[in-house]
Amino acid sequence: MAKLRVGVLASGGGTNLQAIIDASKKKQIDAEVVLVISDKRDAFALERAGKSGIKAVFLDPEKYSSKELHENAIVKILEENCVGLVCLAGYMRLLTDHLIGKFENRIMNIHPALLPSFPGTNGQADALAYGVKVSGCTVHFVELEMDAGPIILQAAVPVLDDDTKESLSKRILEQEHKLYPKAINLFAKGRLKITGRKVKIIS
Ligand code: GAR
Repeated sequence: MAKLRVGVLASGGGTNLQAIIDASKKKQIDAEVVLVISDKRDAFALERAGKSGIKAVFLDPEKYSSKELHENAIVKILEENCVGLVCLAGYMRLLTDHLIGKFENRIMNIHPALLPSFPGTNGQADALAYGVKVSGCTVHFVELEMDAGPIILQAAVPVLDDDTKESLSKRILEQEHKLYPKAINLFAKGRLKITGRKVKIIS
């Protein structure tokens, strides 16, 4: 069977992107990254894509007069490249219905906290400041509300007394790199069944 074609949206360093690319190269997942789109010209994720021979596209939000037009441009490239699953990997923009509507139940996000706790752009620091003893990461389907779609997989890590934002982020990121490829592979194999808020993993 043909491999699932994945399009990744990233704004930053792209270590999750790299983990997905590596898992694909090692044939650990039935999916391949065919396209990387960024809203930041200098996102290292674009370089990572280039180094792996993957199409890398910078779509400058400033060049579009509305969020809708920017998202329409993203949709056009995703469709031109026959993308079957969109993965947000450190993409720091809230999506609207223009994109979500076109890829219903086919957009995933990874978040560096155990949702529904600590949504937003500062999940690790917020968890630390709250004083939780356990945090982690979540892969979920994307809906209009931020960090709120049905949860696919979660992994927990301990929060240590002497943790800083950096040390906790590093511990969580190690888990992110395992969890995201796993979730993509389950999707690729048709093993995720969404019923309301719940995602069942079928065998
Ligand atoms: C990751 O920790 C990801 O969970 C987080 O941004 C980082 C991106 O790292 N995403 C969010 O906070 C989304 N709310 P990366 O660019 O090295 O993959």
